[in-house]
Amino acid sequence: MNRRYRKTIIAGNWKMNKTLTETRAFADEIRPLLGKPKWCEVVLCVPYVNIPAAIRYFKDTRIAIGAENCHYEASGAYTGEVTAEMLKEVGVKYVIIGHSERRQYYNETDFTVNKKVHAALEAGLHPIVCVGESLEQRELGITSELIAYQVKAALAGVAAEQVRRIVIAYEPIWAIGTGKTATAEQAGEVCEEIRAVVRKLYGARVARAVTIQYGGSMNAKNAAELLAQPDVDGGLIGGASLKPADFVQIVNAANQE
Ligand code: PGA
Repeated sequence: MNRRYRKTIIAGNWKMNKTLTETRAFADEIRPLLGKPKWCEVVLCVPYVNIPAAIRYFKDTRIAIGAENCHYEASGAYTGEVTAEMLKEVGVKYVIIGHSERRQYYNETDFTVNKKVHAALEAGLHPIVCVGESLEQRELGITSELIAYQVKAALAGVAAEQVRRIVIAYEPIWAIGTGKTATAEQAGEVCEEIRAVVRKLYGARVARAVTIQYGGSMNAKNAAELLAQPDVDGGLIGGASLKPADFVQIVNAANQE
């Protein structure tokens, strides 16, 4: 983390978990545990259908609500989809874009990711753009090139003053939901490379202002070590964000003065 130049952000990604009742129970449970984290922003990205209620439930906490996806068009015949503008209007602040599960199961590509980044920015949301390599790609030794390509593709056509509003999440696919975390050095190395790509594209001032998260089996035990890396400015957390006590411990690890 480097708080002098950029925000630390801990974001939960609930994926396809928790009903409305469970969302309310989570809010009630986390409220007394969380307090008022001063040094980091806290976000929960929840299923679409629970967003308006979640915004009410978490109103008196420091937790902002995010979405897990959005469509890139402003309106139209796209049955089952939701626009960035719709999310903005109900009070959403962040939106995850290009999560590897969406790339894998819903044909999300670098091209659609880029279109969604533009749509989210246009609507005034903060995109959390996910990039990451598979185990095969890591073993082939092409992680750096692949991540650089994904970052460049996601940011294509984005103006420098908009880039500061983007969060980039480095999520090695082999670490997601597997209990296998990247080592702090691996996470730190790739996050540093991501910042170098942003620096090449937009210069040093923009690069040092961008929040870069690590995601992939981050938990209460390993969070502090991962966050100690200078270029790891937070986490995108799946499994451990479903349990209030675990999530609070991660927030506490990020909230050190
Ligand atoms: P995980 O998920 O923490 O359960 O590995 C992270 C993510 O998919 O964002």
